[in-house]
This record gives sequence, C-alpha cells and structure tokens, in this order.
Amino acid sequence: VDERTQALRELYQDATKLYHHLLVNTQAGETALNYLHERGLDDATIDAFMLGYAPGNDFLLDYFQNKKVDYQLLRTSELFVVWDDGTLHDRFSDRVLFTIRDQYGHPIAFSGRRLSADDTQPKYVNSPESLLFDKSNELFNLDLARDSIKKSHDVILFEGFMDVIAAFQAGVKNSVASMGTSLTIDQVRQLNRLAENITIAYDSDAAGQNATKRALDLIQQNSQMTPVVAHIPDNQDPDEYLRSHDAAALNDVLAHHHENPIAFNLRFLRQDRDFSNQNEVFDYIDQALHLIASVDEAVVRENYLRQLSDDFNISFDALTDQIRPMLMQRQ
Ligand code: GTP
Ligand code: MN
Ligand code: MN
Ligand code: MN
Ligand code: MN
Repeated sequence: VDERTQALRELYQDATKLYHHLLVNTQAGETALNYLHERGLDDATIDAFMLGYAPGNDFLLDYFQNKKVDYQLLRTSELFVVWDDGTLHDRFSDRVLFTIRDQYGHPIAFSGRRLSADDTQPKYVNSPESLLFDKSNELFNLDLARDSIKKSHDVILFEGFMDVIAAFQAGVKNSVASMGTSLTIDQVRQLNRLAENITIAYDSDAAGQNATKRALDLIQQNSQMTPVVAHIPDNQDPDEYLRSHDAAALNDVLAHHHENPIAFNLRFLRQDRDFSNQNEVFDYIDQALHLIASVDEAVVRENYLRQLSDDFNISFDALTDQIRPMLMQRQ
C-alpha cells in the first residue's frame, strides 16, 4: 500500500484505541458504557468489536495535534469536519462508536450512535467515504464472520450493526450488515464467493420489508446464492427480538421461520391492498400468477394456485387458464 493509505490506517488504529480506552477505562465514557451494558452487551463483545466513546469537544483533534500529526492527513481522514475558516473539529460528539473494519479487520470508519432518546439529533452519524472507506464495497463484520460463513455455507444479512453484534454475542457468528444504505451488487458478489445460502433478516417494519424486496431481487439477479427471508415476529428487529426472548428463539426464527422468494413476494404484493375493490383483486391475481409462473416445479406451482383459488374463491380452472400463456412465455 502507498504511504498515504498506510498513514491513514495508523491514524484510524490510533483513534480506535483511544475511543475504546475512553469507553472502557474513563469517567467520561461511563454513561456510554452503561448504555451498552443496558443494551445487553458484555465486556468481551465490547472488546471484540472495538466499540468506543467519542466525547467531542475536539478531544480527538487535541490528541492528534499534541502528537504533531500533519494537518493534511487529519483533514483527509474524515475523522473531522472542516469549518469555513479551515479549522478542524471532531466529527463525533458524545456518541457511542461502532468501529467499521475492512475485510482484514483494520478500522476504516465509524458509525456514531446518540445515547439519548433526543430526536432532534440524528440517531446515527456515519463517517463519509475516504481513501480507506468505500461504503458500497464494505460489509460490516465480514472479517469476523468469514470462517463461519464458509463452514456453514450460509450468511445472514441484518439491517443494523447492533443486530450483528447482539447476534454474534448470542452465538450467531455468520452475519453481516450493509453500511446503513441499501445492499449493492458489489456486496452481493462478495458474499456469493463465500456462501451458498443467504438469509435476509431485516427489520419487520415497512422500511425493512421494502429493503428486503430490493435485496432479494438484487441477490436473485446477481448471484447463485439461494435466498430466504427470515420473518422476525412482533414487528421487532433481530436485536429487540433477542432481548425480549433469548438466543434459542432467535436461532429458531433464523433457521425455521423462512419464506422462499415466491412466498415473500406474494405477501409483499398483498400488503396495503384493498381487496374489497374488484380491480385490486384482479390486478393482484394477475401479478401473483406471473410470480407463480416463474416457479420451475409444476407441483409447487399447483400448490400456490390452489392457495390463490381458496383465498379468493376463484376456480382453479380459471387460474390455470390465465397462467397458461405466462408459462408458454417462460420457454
Ligand atoms: P438501534 O436503534 O441502535 O438498535 O439501531 P437500529 O440498527 O435498529 O436502527 P434502525 O433499524 O432504525 O436503522 C437501521 C440502520 O439504518 C442503522 O444501523 C443505521 O446504519 C441506519 N440508520 C438509522 N438511523 C440513521 C440515521 O439517523 N442516520 C444515518 N445516516 N443512518 C441511520
Ligand atoms: Mn429499521
Ligand atoms: Mn433496527
Ligand atoms: Mn435496533
Ligand atoms: Mn400481465
């Protein structure tokens, strides 16, 4: 690697160590440490994930300036915001830090969570992209999850960093998350090299379900992996579900409460429709038939057709008639 990259790596290594030290060993980090303990994380997990606390008040800037670190290096690091007068100021202020590591385990960015419920502050502040950090290319926790993904042939995709960390502590080691943005083709291709199966376990709220739809399409179009969707009950995210139940319950959901892509897509297609409106019914049935026509096995298709027939009280023969041209188009 070139000199600038190397210098930035060392800077991030330094910053990570300092932030972690502040969290676990100092009075300043006490509230943040309590916050993480209250969310169920133990000290081994806090160490393994190099979690930290950023006090703000230019604590990090002062630290690096005392060490006579070059201004240009600090400026390009994205650890600071640059004011109009050219002065630098700590980007993260009074936040718990999730350290983003590259596939080799080097820290390359941070995501800072606010400690309070105060809605006037954004919940998360993320590092922008830098020489070290290309967010469309990175997957959170890939370094620690890699061996377990290869062994199990399965990768679990969560929405949030907390979901990955909480699951890891509960024994689910083969999970990753994308970087707070939607999944990219690049990330799908990386996972495709390691896994045969992928379990999408996003939040069960509307945002999570929309993101699931996108991820599912992307995976089907750009990989050989077999995707399934794990449905987290009770409108919770995986971390919340784990906290209100236990590790065995989360494992059970991930391993057994699956939908295949057709079942997910049918449910997704149904949501928010007003079936008292005949046009909505016909439109749904037409789109559902297109989905069912994409299934290879005739027996499985028939099963879905029977269900559709039962659900809408439409004859099986009518559905068979309507799906026929769609099946012809397949060949
Ligand atoms: P916790 O509340 O700490 O459990 O976080 P969460 O992961 O459950 O958050 P949520 O489900 O609301 O959002 C999922 C992901 O979206 C997070 O992990 C973040 O990466 C991202 N995200 C959420 N809120 C914000 C925000 O205010 N700003 C940015 N940039 N990203 C956010
Ligand atoms: Mn969410
Ligand atoms: Mn969530
Ligand atoms: Mn959460
Ligand atoms: Mn049509």
